[in-house]
Amino acid sequence: GKVAVLMGGRSSEREVSLMSGTGVLAALQSKGVNAHKFDPAEQGLDQLKVQGFDRCFIALHGRFGEDGTVQGALELLGIPYTGSGVMASSIAMDKIMTKRIWRFEGLSTPDWRMVASTEDTLAAFQALGAPMIVKPARDGSSMGLTKVMTADQCAQAYALAAQYDAEVLCEEFIAGDETTCPVIGSGAAAHALPVIRIVAPEGNYDYQNKYFTDTTQYHCPSGLPEQEEKAIQELVEKSFRTLGCRGWARADIMIRASDRKPFLLEINTSPGMTGHSLVPMAARATGVSYENLCLGLLASSAL
Ligand code: DAL
Ligand code: MG
Repeated sequence: GKVAVLMGGRSSEREVSLMSGTGVLAALQSKGVNAHKFDPAEQGLDQLKVQGFDRCFIALHGRFGEDGTVQGALELLGIPYTGSGVMASSIAMDKIMTKRIWRFEGLSTPDWRMVASTEDTLAAFQALGAPMIVKPARDGSSMGLTKVMTADQCAQAYALAAQYDAEVLCEEFIAGDETTCPVIGSGAAAHALPVIRIVAPEGNYDYQNKYFTDTTQYHCPSGLPEQEEKAIQELVEKSFRTLGCRGWARADIMIRASDRKPFLLEINTSPGMTGHSLVPMAARATGVSYENLCLGLLASSAL
């Protein structure tokens, strides 16, 4: 078969996606897969059929790629693809919708407010307290995110987030350990990989420290007590199943320092596959190379 690695796209995470896709493409080719780069920002998806592709590895991040739109187009074209289907992709892209469902199902996630103005943001700050995270509802890689410490930062934080998305979310900040945990598989076979604990310079795991600096430390094994690691793995498996995710994903979790309670921040249905990325790191800890991870994900592609 002929495989398209979908990368690039039109979201604010385009550059990250090109890094992910380039890595995936090289890995698949090194294993003898007839794989090719395909950038939906440069060619229409109908070209996949015209050019004879019969499978897609989605290495797109953010809107128009991770959000169910491309998945819907591939459903219509009848071409199997990696990762979650239309609905789970679409819900997971929207942090507010995701949190509503998790809360309804009793999964812990930090308290939040949906805001549509500076005034709303100030009111949220009054309710949630400092520090407070302000971020676009449908973006990734910390794009447009501010950690607000004082009320006079609310206007700027709202304006920045609103540049990325009309929907903006204010979230209670959970002080503690920052962790992430991938889930691989589908249905009853979906299972968590080892937890990664992230220690970023000055506690700031932002866009720069995610992809470009070499001073962010990643601990895998996490060094957390065994029961905490297990509790996180159970929580992320539930978070994955509750949204109806498929194939793979990676949930981000904060462990509250005061009582060691884990809180779900979000789940990424098309996680980064760059040289700095975390799913490959957790897979490696279980003895699975980057190349074999890519092969396994490709084999799980479905319609
Ligand atoms: N949104 C980035 C790509 C991630 O979560 O890995
Ligand atoms: Mg994300």
